[in-house]
Amino acid sequence: MRVLPLTLEDCGQAARLHQAAFFKGWKEKDFQEFLKNPLIYGLKTEENHDLSGFILWREVEDEAEILTLVVAPFHQRKGRGSFLLTSLFEILIKKRIQNLFLEVAEDNHQAQGFYRKHDFSLQSKRPGYYPREGGKLIPAFIFFRKLCKI
Ligand SMILES: CC(C)(COP(=O)(O)OP(=O)(O)OC[C@H]1O[C@@H](n2cnc3c(N)ncnc32)[C@H](O)[C@@H]1OP(=O)(O)O)[C@@H](O)C(=O)NCCC(=O)NCCS
Repeated sequence: MRVLPLTLEDCGQAARLHQAAFFKGWKEKDFQEFLKNPLIYGLKTEENHDLSGFILWREVEDEAEILTLVVAPFHQRKGRGSFLLTSLFEILIKKRIQNLFLEVAEDNHQAQGFYRKHDFSLQSKRPGYYPREGGKLIPAFIFFRKLCKI
């Protein structure tokens, strides 16, 4: 397995994976705008030139925030998410960025299990954050990990 940079050419496939994974997923145009932002970076995994997973993050001074991480359903539970995440750890450690944050929806137990396995811990909750059916809003959990070791 290897990771490659996520590029503007990947935005259509990234949007399709994101919309299949999340309620009100992001559009191709959203990904294009993210990747044009000089503070935002992405990595991907591919299978036969098809996107099988990607991670997008923002760096600001000594902090980074994971904006999203998605593995295509068929490729889940085969280590791709962990590979993308540990590749990000290596990049950030080289840049001396030690503080890594992310937000995950209260009802996303799969992702919470994944991030806990990778030594993230719950730091705080943001009420009324993620939209759900019927105009409901559910909390975001903010997870944090210090990057001094992998
Ligand atoms: C979360 C996600 C990125 C994990 O990617 P993945 O490639 O399936 O993860 P890995 O195979 O590297 O799993 C590593 C570990 O995470 C945990 N994990 C992963 N998926 C899990 C699930 N569905 N339920 C419980 N634990 C899970 C397990 O501990 C797993 O180790 P194991 O398979 O040895 O038990 C993937 O499930 C996904 O894309 N989900 C939809 C989008 C999403 O919620 N993204 C995160 C929010 S930003």
